Amino acid sequence: MNKSVSNTVLSCQNLSRSFIDGEREIKVLQGINLDLAQSESLAVIGASGSGKTTLLQLLGGLDSPTLGTVEVCGNNLSAVNETKRGDLRNQYLGFVYQFHHLLAEFSALENVAMPFLIRRVKPSDAFKQAREILEQVGLGHRLEHKPGMLSGGERQRAAIARALVTKPALLLADEPTGNLDSETGDAVMQLLLDLKNNYQTSMVIVTHDMQVAGKMDRTLKLDHGDLISI
Ligand SMILES: Nc1ncnc2c1ncn2[C@@H]1O[C@H](COP(=O)(O)OP(=O)(O)OP(=O)(O)O)[C@@H](O)[C@H]1O
Ligand SMILES: [Mg+2]
Repeated sequence: MNKSVSNTVLSCQNLSRSFIDGEREIKVLQGINLDLAQSESLAVIGASGSGKTTLLQLLGGLDSPTLGTVEVCGNNLSAVNETKRGDLRNQYLGFVYQFHHLLAEFSALENVAMPFLIRRVKPSDAFKQAREILEQVGLGHRLEHKPGMLSGGERQRAAIARALVTKPALLLADEPTGNLDSETGDAVMQLLLDLKNNYQTSMVIVTHDMQVAGKMDRTLKLDHGDLISI
């Protein structure tokens, strides 16, 4: 395998997703081809309803394509059963959603340790790494707070810590700053970029914000089901 191939973290071939609405077929994504190298960052922009979230769900194996394939670090997400897909997600991927999706009944520390606890990492090691990354995102003084006791920006930072604690090969982020004021949004964005640089994480980030897009290596636009250069 040559270097460029082995450095490919994400590869989509002819990726297509349609939804059936009564008699009608809604073709949301139509034959997308995309490669992302290690450490490479990509912004995906596009009008509301253009299929950005649909694309991210497919890239993360949370939805299945109508046609085509998604490979993460050489693993075809469609060729494996749901259990294995879950394992691949846990091993290679981190997700940051527009709304934080933290578990309400658990503390920030427990939420961030969760990806390791799911892997059956020794709890003392899981909590140690969770504490370290929470300190990096400036939440060292909020370890025992539950999500309901954190501010919006703090929750989003905790969600980013959870997404990156396992140092995933690929981070998928759906409007991670969309729900924050511009100052907090900038700080969260900077944090994502710093952490990405530290861990050589590849990143696909959906955003409406051209300033955020401008911080990525590449920007592509979803338009009529295809990803096009702008
Ligand atoms: N489960 C589903 N069943 C039927 N249609 C769906 C489903 N999920 C998404 N769609 C349709 O696919 C299209 C794309 O939706 P998607 O959520 O991917 O858009 P988006 O680009 O993320 O929009 P926004 O910027 O508003 O978040 C929409 O027209 C939506 O109605
Ligand atoms: Mg969306």
